Order: sequence, then C-alpha cells, then structure tokens
Amino acid sequence: QNVTNVKLTNPDDAPIISKHIYGHFAEHLGRCIYGGFYVGEDSDIPNTNGVRNDVIKALKELKVPNLRWPGGCFADTYHWRDGIGPKEDRPEMVNRWWGGVTEDNSFGTHDFLNLCEVLEAEPYLAANVGSSTVQEFTEYIQYVTHPDGSPMADLRKKNGREKPWSIGFWGVGNEMWGCGGNMTPEYYANIYRQYATFMSDWTNSHGMYRVASGANVADYHWTEVLMREIPKSLIEGVALHSYSFVTWSKKGSATGFNEAQYFSTMETALKMDELIKKHTEIMDKYDPEHKVDLIVDEWGGWYEVEEGTNPGFLYQQNTMRDAMIAGTTLNIFNNWAHRVKMANLAQTINVLQAVILTEDEKMLLTPTYHVMKMYNVHHDAKLLPVEFESPKYEFEGKSLPSISISASKDKNNVVHISLVNIDASKENTVELDVEALGFKKAEGQILVSKKLQDHNTFDNPKNIVPELFKDFKIKKGKLSVTLPPFSVVVLESK
Ligand code: AHR
Repeated sequence: QNVTNVKLTNPDDAPIISKHIYGHFAEHLGRCIYGGFYVGEDSDIPNTNGVRNDVIKALKELKVPNLRWPGGCFADTYHWRDGIGPKEDRPEMVNRWWGGVTEDNSFGTHDFLNLCEVLEAEPYLAANVGSSTVQEFTEYIQYVTHPDGSPMADLRKKNGREKPWSIGFWGVGNEMWGCGGNMTPEYYANIYRQYATFMSDWTNSHGMYRVASGANVADYHWTEVLMREIPKSLIEGVALHSYSFVTWSKKGSATGFNEAQYFSTMETALKMDELIKKHTEIMDKYDPEHKVDLIVDEWGGWYEVEEGTNPGFLYQQNTMRDAMIAGTTLNIFNNWAHRVKMANLAQTINVLQAVILTEDEKMLLTPTYHVMKMYNVHHDAKLLPVEFESPKYEFEGKSLPSISISASKDKNNVVHISLVNIDASKENTVELDVEALGFKKAEGQILVSKKLQDHNTFDNPKNIVPELFKDFKIKKGKLSVTLPPFSVVVLESK
C-alpha cells in the first residue's frame, strides 16, 4: 500500500492564516444579486430588507469573513449614486458585460453594507476607476465613511443611515488590463497612484486598505510594474485573478465531463501554487518587509453555462470536481499565509463556482459550500507547515500530485488538518507525525461521493453532505489517514 509520510512542524514564526482567505464575491451578474441574494421586500420568499433569509442563514453558518461587491467587470461601469435614495427614483442602466440586461439599481450601497453587518462580514468595495473620476470615487468614500458634518455624510443621513459603515477593503478598479479599461500596467500604475492619493477613510482606526487591480494569471510583468511603480505608502494589497477550466476556449459542461477534462481542470487549479510562488518572488524583490499583501480576489472553476440559461449569466452546477478545486486551492492559500492575506471565491450565488444555488423559493448548498465550511476551522489559526512528497495521480502519460494538505493550530491549541486526494480512482494513505503536537485522539469529517460528477439538485439537495470520518488511527505519535478517491477530509485534534 502506498503511504505518504508527512512532516508537520510548529515553528514559532509561522504566520496566522488570515480568515479573509475565505472571502466571497458577489457581482451584479446573472442571478447572483437578483434572485440569489435579493428578492425585494415584497417577495413571497421570506426575506430581511429584501435579502433571502435562507441565504442569510447559510452564509452566517459559513462565517463569511468578507464580501466583495459590486464586481468584477460590473464595478468599472457602476456609478454609486445610481444605487442610493428612494428605490423608485433610481435610474436604470444597461449591464453591458453580463447579458446586456437592464439593471434597476434596487440593490445598492445601503443594501450591500447593511447585509455585510448582518453577516458580520467585512465589506470589500470594488470601486469604479475605468469609467469614473477621482472626485466620484472620493465622494463615495466620504459617503460611506465620513461620520458627520460633510456634504456626503449629510446625504447618507438623509437616505436613512446615521452612522458611517466600517469598510474593510477598497478595490481600486478591477481587471484594469481588460474590462476595467484595457490599460497597460505602466498607465494603470499612474492612475492607481492618482486615485490612491485622494483616498482617506474617515472613520477606520486601522486606516485605508487599498487593493490594486492585479495580474491575470501568469502576467508577472503586471505585478512587477505595480510593485516597482507604486510607493508602499499608497498600497496595502495587490490582486491576482486565476480561474480553473478544461481550456479557456472549450470549457466543457459543469456536470457532463470525462476524466481527461477533470484532469485538465485540476491542472489549472493546482497551478495556483506556482502562480503565488512567482508573483510572491516579484513582491519579495520590491517589498522585502511584506508591507503589501497578495489578494487572490477571483478564483474558482469556470465551465459552460447550464443548458437553456443566458450565456451572459454564468450559471453552472457544482460537483465533486469543484470540491477538489476548493479543497486544494484553500490548502494552497493556507500554506502561503505569510503573503496571501485575502482571497475571494467567484461567486457566492448562482454564478461560476457558487456556494449556493437558488431556483425561485428553493435553495441548495453546493459541495463547494461544504468544503468551505469544513475548512473554516483554519480562520485566524496559526499555520503548521507541512512537508511531504505526494504520490502521483497519473492519467494518459501525465501526472499531478494527488495529495494536498494544510494544517493549523487555533487559539485554543486545537489542531486541524485538511487533506485532499484528487485521484479519480485510487485511495491514498497518509501518515503524519503528530508526536510533537501532543494529541492522541481526533475527530473527522469527510466530503466524498460515488462519482466525480455527482452534485446536489433542488430535488435532492443533500445528495452530497459532509459525513463523519473514521478511517484514521493514531498510534505511537503517528496519525494514519486513508483517503478515498476524490475526497476532502478535515481532522480535529481532541
Ligand atoms: O467573475 C466573473 C468575471 O470574471 C468578473 O466580472 C471579472 O473580473 C472576471 O473576468
């Protein structure tokens, strides 16, 4: 039997895994906001200020640490003033990137920020740079964060919100190399400097957290230019976007895929490790003191839309393949916790690798939801670095590491280990040396199913749910775990 030996260490200087690595993303795209989050106060679907109660409950249980809004590409077309004040007076606009549908602006800044308060999630506002002005941007900041006695604070109060909101993060444009304005990095670096100069948070005691629109996948030149040209006093985070797919031009079905397509998808998902390594090397060169964080504010699986749905709405099902993407990607982020401080799965509801799907009054939790929930034990816990040589998942002459692991110790000294076996047909046994960590008992949960293509449906929403996991033993300081094919396991020390 194939046994992988894993060295688990507990160095004093190991980083804390920021809970913000487990962030989410909600864009005005397809049915993410409308029908997903927001149904309006007059809906028959039970809601709080227009937001579905079932969604609020599920996201609270998930412990969503931050939520990015309103885009995506939509962000650089969005004019915040269109989404404030009485709903009946709000102007309409065309959502040019996503299906060309008319946006009525009924879900705006107040709705979003109040929702974040309910979810106890930090808002991550992606502000318009591509089709806006410095003045529009700074007035927006003043509107949401200025306490009192300023023109924008007065306007906010007139619209029913007395206190300013606390804004965790500000995105300065999105995908400025593409839908944000097709800019060169040199041009954007200058624009960024201009916008960032005028950004001041009027209430936040920890100051402004500004995220520069980052590279597309392996565009290392983009990161190089931003890190070189933007003074460290003007930037707190630099972004990176990377999606997983079979190939960009032939994405294939979300559920009707074969093993070759699964293998290719995992190949792009596991690339995340190399991407972070290389972007981090550039960041280290210009920022050896780690003042700037790497923010992977869009990641996840991207397939063809479900049959009969609007191609501009990016609605796709979510299978065990997505659970594999989530489990391995989150392990990669955990293991890079010293530089990756935030990430946002694209997107929360009904779009791309969603954690929730809705259909009228029905709602289901996807396998990705369950993985993210199983992993939330890592939030703000201390990383326990792992070292091991993974066995290979071989397919048609190519291979990938089949095992992915990350571990952490929380403030109560409880150890959590998350393990993924992506192999489509082989089980794998992993042996971890836990002697130094001093625990003799553990409990576990597993997410697994018969077929990779399995998923939850509105008729069978609990087809895939986490189960109690017992296929492990601890003997003489060694924890031995047997992972079935395409499974995700999280163990907790007792
Ligand atoms: O998440 C969908 C889209 O993907 C976003 O709007 C954009 O930023 C990216 O290209």
